[in-house]
Amino acid sequence: MAADAQDKTPKGGPEHVAIIMDGNGRWAQSRGRPRLFGHQAGARRVRDIVEACPDLGVKYLTIFAFSTENWKRTQTEVSGLMALFRRYIVREARALLSQGVRVRFIGDRIRLDEKLVAMMDELELITSHNDLVHLTVALNYGGRDEVTRAAKRLAYEIEQGRLTHKDVDAETLSRFLDTHVLPDPDLVIRTSGEARISNFLLWQSAYAEYEFVDTLWPDFTPEEFARVCASYAHRDRRFGAVKA
Ligand code: FPP
Repeated sequence: MAADAQDKTPKGGPEHVAIIMDGNGRWAQSRGRPRLFGHQAGARRVRDIVEACPDLGVKYLTIFAFSTENWKRTQTEVSGLMALFRRYIVREARALLSQGVRVRFIGDRIRLDEKLVAMMDELELITSHNDLVHLTVALNYGGRDEVTRAAKRLAYEIEQGRLTHKDVDAETLSRFLDTHVLPDPDLVIRTSGEARISNFLLWQSAYAEYEFVDTLWPDFTPEEFARVCASYAHRDRRFGAVKA
């Protein structure tokens, strides 16, 4: 980003935005098209929103691409989404790399196809020196699943004698979460008019601000993203304290 663009970065905006990208299916159905058509449009929208981040001062963007519950969808939709993730990595890798985006994946990789996991590892590796925007893609991710896996790893460390029960506090548990290198989200956005969290970043969002917008994800423009980020700047975050 050019130095003068950096100067125009809005003040008081969110540093870390997490997005539940909902509404792809309805977007496609309203056009008489299959659900995967909506997911493809949704993937194109991801690119626009990532590109908008530097000018908005958003350094961390975390997006919910596939939940631990999404396996319950039809085989056609699940395999179509997995193919879309592979295509996304192939098509976007070069642009992400040159735009200074560092990509990470969170979620349990155990159930994902080996080839996809290898591609995810490779994208994480080749972008690991980037620092302009940190894009985290939640894939086979569930908040409860993440906390459960963290607790299991913590229990193992205790079993091995490297920690004791006295070490167990919120800070120690956080170190075992998939997100351990990321700050907590400041703002969580959900598109499509649904006002629920759906198991996304449960631990990390304890003090996040939430914004539920009616727009379906494929229609969520960088302009609307900028408006939502700007409205965050007017919120009064207290983290449980009273105003001085
Ligand atoms: C929820 O909308 C969306 C998903 C489960 C998939 C999200 C995936 C993408 C936006 C595409 C690609 C992402 C990347 C990172 C390449 P829904 O299908 O549940 O919508 P509905 O509620 O209208 O049915």
